[in-house]
Amino acid sequence: MEGGSKPAHGARALIEGEKTAFDKRAKDRLAHGFVPDLRRLRRVPWFYNNVWRDPKFVDIHWMPKLRFVIDLARERGGRVLELGCGYGLLSLEMARYGLDVVGLDLSPENIAIAERFKDQNPYRESFGSLQYVCADVADIEWDRECFDSVVFFRSLHHLPDLAGVLAKARSWLKPGGYLLLSEPVRRHFTRESARMAAILRLVLPTWEKFETKLDRTWTASEWESAVDKIFREYTLEDDHAQSPMDKSTDDAQTIIAQVGALFAIREKRFSDAFIDKLIGGLRGKNRYALARFLKFLDDHLVQTGTLPPTSLELHAVKAT
Ligand SMILES: C[S@@+](CC[C@H](N)C(=O)[O-])C[C@H]1O[C@@H](n2cnc3c(N)ncnc32)[C@H](O)[C@@H]1O
Repeated sequence: MEGGSKPAHGARALIEGEKTAFDKRAKDRLAHGFVPDLRRLRRVPWFYNNVWRDPKFVDIHWMPKLRFVIDLARERGGRVLELGCGYGLLSLEMARYGLDVVGLDLSPENIAIAERFKDQNPYRESFGSLQYVCADVADIEWDRECFDSVVFFRSLHHLPDLAGVLAKARSWLKPGGYLLLSEPVRRHFTRESARMAAILRLVLPTWEKFETKLDRTWTASEWESAVDKIFREYTLEDDHAQSPMDKSTDDAQTIIAQVGALFAIREKRFSDAFIDKLIGGLRGKNRYALARFLKFLDDHLVQTGTLPPTSLELHAVKAT
């Protein structure tokens, strides 16, 4: 690894903001009982409307996306580079399948946590290897053609230079190597999707009590402002953005076009009309059955083109 060119002052401030935001997020989550290990997850009541609140919600919502990446990385085998690995959930899991993984993240706190959970890992049989690096993607270089897979799991959308980082990823991949990504594409969220989410949040048992959320006199303008609030929440126009660069790329067509210019795209999967900011908020004894039904409904509405997706999984190959 060697140093690259330094970004301009404004860009440096954004990167510092990004680092601070993710350091804080990781610290807060762990302080409230979150365990960043897919095999040792536990309930975290501190999350009020977040899938990570409950391992069963994680199974329903996140596992299909994680499995997409893990299964393809295993199919290719060898060395995997995960860029923006956060506290190492996915990197650790991939290493448990015998892969040789390098996880890279900008946030020192995330990397310290990832190292800690790697050391505590009780599942050592058939473990490959796992190395963590704390750096800005823009500052690093590796030898050409030294990885079998490059993974972005909910991280590419934080990187402002999409074309640049994809070109780097391509140069680090061996011929035939895999580019694997799972990314939010929130720009496609519509007011119709917001209406659906608003109705479901109102009528289903969630963290808000029925007496306060439903049993009141509604006017058209109150309803429209409830929809608007949800629209701003999903599109991160309110205070739900995780960091200053959360929406650097949030558009599926741009990602697909730029990946397609450098790689052969093998598979695209679209999902999540509204589900991701809903099932973590479900309460009551029927919450898992409801979550499974909503997941089915959400997939169905996306597949039939009724509502647009806000998540993209993609598998592409470096042509030989
Ligand atoms: C939304 S989090 C996803 C983390 C992890 N992949 C996960 O799913 O838990 C985005 C991650 O990208 C990292 N990141 C943002 N900008 C980065 C950059 N320029 N270089 C390296 N990592 C970056 C952040 O520190 C953060 O951990």
